[in-house]
This record gives sequence, structure tokens and C-alpha cells, in this order.
Amino acid sequence: MVHVKILPDKAHASEEVAQMLHDLIVEKPNAVIGVATGSTPEGAYERLAEKITENRTDVSQLQFFALDEYIGLPWEHPESYHSVIHRCVTVPLGVEPAQVHVPEAPDDSTVGPVDDYDQKIAAAGGIDLQLLGIGRNGHIGFNETGTPFNAPTHVGELTEITREDNSRFFEGGVDEVPPLAVTQGIGTILKARKIVLMAFGEGKVDAIRDSLEKPPAEERPGSSLQLHDDCTFYLDEAAAAKVGHS
Ligand code: PGA
Repeated sequence: MVHVKILPDKAHASEEVAQMLHDLIVEKPNAVIGVATGSTPEGAYERLAEKITENRTDVSQLQFFALDEYIGLPWEHPESYHSVIHRCVTVPLGVEPAQVHVPEAPDDSTVGPVDDYDQKIAAAGGIDLQLLGIGRNGHIGFNETGTPFNAPTHVGELTEITREDNSRFFEGGVDEVPPLAVTQGIGTILKARKIVLMAFGEGKVDAIRDSLEKPPAEERPGSSLQLHDDCTFYLDEAAAAKVGHS
């Protein structure tokens, strides 16, 4: 069952999500938080950083687990997710790098499971709250169409749509976007105690409708979230435009 919250715009949704994250951190100072990259959650991280500063919130016991990482980009590359998470989460929230984990796989990895990330998450107590965006094609993390719903953290291939969408972050365009990535699996994501997915803009409208209104199926990774018992989608009006019309 997915709960849906439709907000007037990204700023309102980011504020609500940031407040919810801050409430969690105050209630559980050693919370484990799953963090997404991409442009969608940036506003929520900025608002959360402001709340932490204003309230002098203790962040010293938190742990963060990123969703995914490209394979073949050096960590120092500004668009590696090690760099993005450092820039958007670690530094603004004022946490130590040791509190923040990003999945890794050797450069020569082919497709398949990555052994220790799920164990690391379990050893930290499991994820209390997982933040997600969604791709135009319905992917969550880098779980593309056809990913089994019980997949653990694994290496997978990116679709051309995903590489094209992400090419906006790379000066060299689509050729610079790696074809492989390591990602928390759908099975990993579904183990989180609470899931929050944000989606903004008309580019996400079909992915959101399919995730919410079509039966759960591997061809629609976002539809797996219907199987979770505490998942909320925070949408702006553009992304929600096709919800409730079928
Ligand atoms: P975006 O990406 O936040 O940059 O739109 C979302 C995703 O691909 O999961």
C-alpha cells in the first residue's frame, strides 16, 4: 500500500520530507537513513541541513547508506555518487565521512550480486528510512526494468534512457555516463522500515502512474513499492497529473 501526498511544488514537498527526516533524527539519534542522489532530493537535503543548524541537532550517531554508484568513474569525479553524497549530504549535514556509506564494486565487475553492502546495512540495524527518486522509465536506484523484486545489492546495466537522462550532469554527454552501476537491489530497498519516494515534474508522470496504478511487475520497478507496508510518495502536481484517472 502506497500513500500519496500531492504538494503544490517541489519546495513544499522538500520542506515536508526534511521535517519528517528531522523528526526521525530527534526521535532516534542513531537512525539509519538511505539516501538517493539525482536532482530530486537536493531541496530536502538543503532544508534538513538548515533545520539541523537551527536546532543544533545531534547528528553524531546517524548512519547513511547511499543507494547506488557508477562503475568506472573515479570517486574524485564530481559526478561519482561518492562525490555527490559528500557534497549534498555529508558536508551540509555536518556528519563525519565514516558515518556515510556508498556501495562499491571493482571496475571489472560484470553483472551480479555485490557481497557485503546488504550485510553492512543489516549490521547497522537496517534502514529506518529510505529516500528514493524515480527514473522517467520507472527505475528506482539503478534497478532497471526486469530486476527481480528480491534482488540484493548488485551490479546492473543502465538503460539508454537512464544514461541519456543522466548525461545532463556530464560535460562530455552520454558517452561519459558509465554503462554499469552498483545499486541497492529492490529486495534491499523493500527491507527498509519506511520508504519515501519523491517525484517532481511532468517527465515523471507516466512512471508515477504505472508505479501506483498498474499491478506490481518486474517490468515496472517502481510498482514493487506497492508491496511495502509503509511507503509514501511525495509528488508535485505535475508528477501526479495522471494519478487517479484510470
Ligand atoms: P532525478 O533522477 O532525481 O535526477 O530526476 C531520479 C532517478 O533517476 O532515480
